[in-house]
This record gives sequence, structure tokens and C-alpha cells, in this order.
Amino acid sequence: EKSPHIYTREEVRSHSSPETRIWVTLGCEVFDVTEFVDLHPGGPSKLMLAAGGPLEPFWALYAVHDQPHVREILAQYKVGELSPEDTAPSTVKTSDPYADDPVRHPALKVNSQRPFNAEPPPELLTENYITPNPIFFTRNHLPVPNLDPETYRLHVVGPPGGQSLCLSLDDLYQFPKHEITVTLQCAGNRRSEMTRIKEVKGLEWNTGAISTAHWAGARLCDVLAKAGHQLCGTEAHVCFEGLDSDPTGTAYGASIPLARAMDPEAEVLLAYEMNGQPLPRDHGFPVRVVVPGVVGARHVKWLGKVSVEPEESYSHWQRRDYKGFSPSVDWDIVDFDSAPSIQELPVQSAITEPKDGETVQSGEVTIKGYAWSGGGRAVVRVDVSLDGGLTWQVAELDGEEQRPRKAWAWRLWQLQAPVPAGKKELNIVCKAVDDSYNVQPDTVAPIWNLRGVLSNAWHRVHVHVTP
Ligand code: HEM
Ligand code: MTE
Repeated sequence: EKSPHIYTREEVRSHSSPETRIWVTLGCEVFDVTEFVDLHPGGPSKLMLAAGGPLEPFWALYAVHDQPHVREILAQYKVGELSPEDTAPSTVKTSDPYADDPVRHPALKVNSQRPFNAEPPPELLTENYITPNPIFFTRNHLPVPNLDPETYRLHVVGPPGGQSLCLSLDDLYQFPKHEITVTLQCAGNRRSEMTRIKEVKGLEWNTGAISTAHWAGARLCDVLAKAGHQLCGTEAHVCFEGLDSDPTGTAYGASIPLARAMDPEAEVLLAYEMNGQPLPRDHGFPVRVVVPGVVGARHVKWLGKVSVEPEESYSHWQRRDYKGFSPSVDWDIVDFDSAPSIQELPVQSAITEPKDGETVQSGEVTIKGYAWSGGGRAVVRVDVSLDGGLTWQVAELDGEEQRPRKAWAWRLWQLQAPVPAGKKELNIVCKAVDDSYNVQPDTVAPIWNLRGVLSNAWHRVHVHVTP
């Protein structure tokens, strides 16, 4: 028996492309799976997500790997083992406000590490109707608070003459438990397409700042009613404050109109479960707001305080961000008070497969993607073109049926289409239509805005065809 070759994680990481060969690890074992990539039943691009690193986080998402024959396949490719010091967890510096942030899934494409902002890659995004928690897109503005569920309290300010509430998690569990499937989308989803037109201020999101989960919690209207709130004749807003705060002590905050909060049909939740689990820390543990059909920014995480006010939240993120402007408005002239805060989002769709720049086989091509609209509007159709928008075909809608006026979750869609003979490349385009017959604009330039929000033009993917 000769002793195994010993490698460091660093060395394994350097083997992550066909040129350098493709290595992965499982436990303390190292494998060179270059020859297996094209044979992978789940497809080469999925296997490549783990290239140069551990398989565990990916295999945890797909239980098909939890079988002896899969281990046997892998065993054939063993080349050595990890050095013992590389299997121990790394230590962190404590002066860093982000040092206590949770460990993230390696499949996430990181747009910013501090604060943490990341999206699932397109080939995983539409693999599941319900996005698995570890790859749900994450949009944080601040370090993730580490809250103790035992001492956690939610403060609900009562109206004059009503009663303020100080609710523990157990108190929240006493309200009727309400469950709904809701898609969350960041206002900045697909911002990178706006950046290509002209620079914008904001994180470079591709098509993945959108995800879907099954949420459970107390209805906000039940909690507000318990505190003595009623719908009043005058305009009012429900303001939310997070328990994440910047070094000056300013917390993340946002608000929604009271009318939406009090409408049982709007199904606004104080959610404590995400896909049957307690909320993960990145997604607001132990309690977050879920506002179906409304921009992600109002779904306040790590919820600490709820109050009803005559005006919208004074938070920076309500008043000085998350608003849309004309393409003519620049940072010298922008007047944030002149535009309404984004609430319900416009109709949206994107192609997740194939990816831009990819090479597809001649014969037939499979095109996949997602479609969603704000305000509970259902997706009634997705049109797909292979020739840049000259001719169209209607895609097949997958995923769960949508309820009229309460279509809170996306539809996944796909189209199998013959590749026209002789084509060397395809300009694939998709566009969705919602049940108000809202459509997506055909190009980005006329909806460009300085913050790069509301980017919902036809999604375009250019691919090459093998002869
Ligand atoms: C399916 C092996 C990495 C995603 C499978 C199957 C095998 C396999 C043998 C078929 C299992 C069956 O149906 O009985 C491997 C090996 C890997 C690897 C040896 C690493 C060297 C990955 C990674 C992902 C992934 C990193 C990532 C996201 C999938 C999916 C399927 C699958 C989604 C199901 C495909 C389907 O049902 O159509 N894999 N896998 N695999 N694998 Fe992997
Ligand atoms: N809530 C708090 N407390 N702090 C935040 O930074 N980000 C908001 C919202 N709620 C945020 C927050 C934004 S802009 C979005 S898009 C969603 O959370 C993202 O939710 P997710 O990270 O669970 O996907």
C-alpha cells in the first residue's frame, strides 16, 4: 500500500477548468473528475459549479448523489487526500463587523462580500420551482445580526387608545399560521444589462436577484388588529425596522401602505418559516416581513419594530433609494421626493438556459426561464423568439397554477424548438405578458435610470450553433 498524495485546498482550487483539469473533494478525499464531466447525468455545467472545491454543499441540494453507485463512480477518480490542516475550519478576525456573518453556499455568485449580496447561477435558479434555502438570492445592506430566539421580541406600536405589543416568538406562534408561496425580486435584478448602456450606481445583479419560497407565519393584519389598529379614512403607512444597523446605530427600514397591510387578501406575513425551516440567518432569522407582489426592499428582515405612521418610513431605503426616474435624470438633478417609492413590480421574465455565449447543438434547442409579475398579476403567456424578435413561439408554462389576483409566485417556462437549418447563431429573446396585458419593453435604453432599478426589457441571449 503506498501512501496517498497529499494536496492543499489551494492546490485543489487551482484545478477548476478543462485546461488545468477538474478536481473536487468529498470529505478529505481529492478526485480528478475531468473525464467524468461530460458523462454527468445532471449535465456538465452543474458539475462544474463544484470545480476546485467541495462536493458536499451541492450534493446536499440533490439527494440523488446519496447512493452507493454514485460513490463508486466517484471513487474511480481518486487522486489523493487533503492535508490535515486543510480539513480544519478556518479562524476569523473579530474586529471585522462581518466576521459573524453565516457561512454561505459556494454555488452563489457573489456580487459583494461585505455586505453580502449574491445570486444563484442561472442553471440552478430554474432547476426547482421552490428555490432551496441555501441558494436563495441574498441582499443585505449591513452585517447579519445574530439574534437569540429566546430573548427575541417584536415591538408593535399600538394606536392612541390601543395597546402596544411586545411579542416573543411563542406569542407569534399563537396567531393563526398562514402559509403562502411567494417570489421575492430585488428592484436591482438584471441591473447589469442597464450598466451596459451607461454606468449606474448599484450592485451588478444578473438575472438571479429573484427566488421563490414557501413562507409561513402570522398575518400582519391579525397582529395589527390585536394591537387595536383599524383601517382609517386617511392615508397611513406601516413602518418596519430591522435589527441590523450601521455603525451609527441606524437600522434598515421600509414601509408599505396601511391599506395593503390590513387587507387579509393581500396576505402580508410576519414570516418565521421558509420552506418548512426556521428562517436562515441571511433571510431574516427569526422573523421577517413578506409582502406578496411587492419589491424585495419592503420585505424587512430581522424585524424588530412595526408602527403605523401618517407618512412613509423616513428610512434612506424608502426615501432616497428604490425609486424610478427618467433616463434623462442624473445625479446632479435627481429629486428623490418627486418619485413614488417602488411597491408593486412590473412584469418580468428571463432566460436561464442556454446561457449567453454558449454553444448549442444543431437539431433542437431547449430554452428555459422564469416569468413573474408584481401585485398578484398572473403570467398569462411567455413568447420566445430565436431570431431576435422577428418571429415568435409560445413557451409552455410549468410550475404551480396561479390564483387570479393572488399570483404571488413565478411560473417557470420552457420551449423545445427546432434550430432552423443552416443557422450558425441564434438570438434568443423572451418576453412575458401578465393578466392586465402588461408587456415588457423591447429594449433597455428607454428605461435606463441612474439607480439601475426596474430592469425588465426583453431578455436576450446570443448562442452559437455547432455545425
Ligand atoms: C445526477 C454523479 C456533481 C447535480 C447524478 C447522477 C450521478 C451523479 C451518478 C445520477 C444519479 C441517479 O440518477 O441515480 C455526480 C458526480 C459528481 C456530481 C460523480 C461530482 C464529481 C454534481 C454537482 C451538481 C450535480 C456539483 C450540482 C449542482 C446533479 C443533478 C442530478 C445529478 C441535478 C439529477 C439529474 C436528473 O435527475 O436529471 N450525478 N454528480 N451533480 N447530479 Fe450529479
Ligand atoms: N431587511 C433588512 N433588515 N436589511 C436589509 O438589508 N434588504 C432588503 C430586504 N429586507 C434588507 C431587508 C432587500 S433590498 C431585499 S431585495 C430583500 O430583503 C432580500 O431578501 P433576501 O436576502 O432574503 O433575498
